[in-house]
Amino acid sequence: MRTVAVTNLKGGVGKTTTTVNVGAGLALKGLRVLLVDVDAQGNLATALGVLPLRTLYEVLVDGKAVAQCLVRARPNLDLLAADATLMNAQPLMTQRPDWAYLLGRALKTVASQYDVALIDCSASLSVMNMGALLAAQDVLVPTAVEHLALRGIELLQEQLARVGSGTIRCIVPTMFDSRQRQAHELLLQLQGRYAGLVTEPIRVNVRLSEASAQGRTIYEHDPRSRGALDYAQLVEHVSTLLGLQPTVAAPAATPNAGLADPAPQRPRKYIPDSEPAAAKPAAETPLFHGTTHEPCPGCRQPLQQAVMAGYRIRYCDHCHYKRQELVQGVRR
Ligand SMILES: Nc1ncnc2c1ncn2[C@@H]1O[C@H](COP(=O)(O)OP(=O)(O)OP(=O)(O)O)[C@@H](O)[C@H]1O
Ligand SMILES: [Mg+2]
Repeated sequence: MRTVAVTNLKGGVGKTTTTVNVGAGLALKGLRVLLVDVDAQGNLATALGVLPLRTLYEVLVDGKAVAQCLVRARPNLDLLAADATLMNAQPLMTQRPDWAYLLGRALKTVASQYDVALIDCSASLSVMNMGALLAAQDVLVPTAVEHLALRGIELLQEQLARVGSGTIRCIVPTMFDSRQRQAHELLLQLQGRYAGLVTEPIRVNVRLSEASAQGRTIYEHDPRSRGALDYAQLVEHVSTLLGLQPTVAAPAATPNAGLADPAPQRPRKYIPDSEPAAAKPAAETPLFHGTTHEPCPGCRQPLQQAVMAGYRIRYCDHCHYKRQELVQGVRR
């Protein structure tokens, strides 16, 4: 199991949104994913629309087995949730000399059951974040494209050096507003300072905040949105970067059955935010998109198909019909 801390000392930069949508995307690709919330705000459970009976508090303070405290959030996607009780855990944990290693040790007990764990950190130098950084081999840093972003990443590097664990594997610019010239300048600055680590930006997209407010992933809420496309691309990047492969052979997949050849890959271009995302889907996405021979059950028009992050979505352009399924099936 690869353990990845999703962290930034700055608040509200898209850590939880990234954890949910990268985690869900990896699960849709057939990987077995564990999401871990170490933030007492408990946003991960809310964003996934689940109500956990047990949380990380019980693992760290009561010594319960991780396996007993998990919630099955989606197929291939489990959650070790947090809530406000986690604030009480911190003073209790630090009475123990091994407090910093409790989370890492707990996660090791379920390591054989998952391909990857993503830990959603809080925006602070808390005991819980320290435990998360010690538990993680890899660090993913979502960062807003703004003036103080570079300073925030430098602080995080200092913290990682002090902890002596975890390597920053990628920096994900979030809430990128392509209409603002300053955003392009700041992105260039970020890419110049951290060449090779900075991924394609996640554009600002109201669908992402709607999705988490409704307890849905972006692929469930609006798979054709630019938020879904941006996160689907990040999922592909992260799985290649970390060498993540499903450990069990997946059932035969025929993602393009009945379709014309997929559109050729095009160089990436940002849609100005004033344009509707659905206006030019085929031109924007390198993912499989096209018209199928299957008629819509509602209006008999041919269904459209998109394949992203391991998810096959068939939808109708004329009515509101939409069907989603895992390309590689459910593994558990
Ligand atoms: N690309 C985006 N476009 C528009 N809104 C976004 C985007 N990414 C995140 N948001 C919204 O911004 C807000 C903050 O995002 P999120 O909760 O993921 O940040 P965070 O870093 O986890 O915050 P915290 O530090 O409080 O844990 C949320 O309302 C979320 O829905
Ligand atoms: Mg958060």
